[in-house]
Amino acid sequence: MLIAPSILSADFGNLARDVQAICEGGCDLVHVDVMDGHFVPNLTIGPVVVSAVAKVATKPLDIHLMVQNNTFFVELFAPLKPHYISFHIEEEKHPHRLIQKIRDYGIAPAITLNPHTPPEAIEFLLEDLDMVLLMSVNPGFGGQTFIPSVLEKIKRLKNLITQYNPNCLIEVDGGVGEKNIQALKEAGADIVVAGSYIFGNEKGIPYAIESLKV
Ligand code: DX5
Ligand code: ZN
Repeated sequence: MLIAPSILSADFGNLARDVQAICEGGCDLVHVDVMDGHFVPNLTIGPVVVSAVAKVATKPLDIHLMVQNNTFFVELFAPLKPHYISFHIEEEKHPHRLIQKIRDYGIAPAITLNPHTPPEAIEFLLEDLDMVLLMSVNPGFGGQTFIPSVLEKIKRLKNLITQYNPNCLIEVDGGVGEKNIQALKEAGADIVVAGSYIFGNEKGIPYAIESLKV
């Protein structure tokens, strides 16, 4: 299992310290939640702060857009050279075009599905994707409760991926921790995002990251 800590739960007064802590603590990706106050009822960080994160991060960035006007935000963040940029299918009329645009920047394209969106919604996009991000909470905030129906959804998505593009990875985001990591693994998740579990862990960040590597 690959681990992508969400810096949404970091201490923003000590952001560089916390980004270093997850990178030294053994994470695989640094998950960056970009919220615009329109697609979701919360507002987070833009390219000025994310470029500061990119400077101290020794692991690749995984940018999760939760915004309206995806193309504008892709153009804004592409110069920071993240490994992945994911956008929500619920907010995109021309996903093939946007996938190609992300790929033209040399960035791995990914699509995110809200908890209610069926995996079949992206059946005819899978061939063009490097990753699918399944939300296991409604996007907008850290620290929410995991929605168990996503486990069934991972299995259905895995079947589609086997059929259309076995190289495409499945990432799961929201309410992930020690309690559900085994079930996520068995269902077919390749990458998990975790915010409050990692940054709020009493046993420390390295322990928290290690405990998710099943
Ligand atoms: C929610 C974000 C998540 C969030 C996860 O909209 O996409 O990345 O930070 O936080 P936890 O792990 O606390 O649910
Ligand atoms: Zn996220």
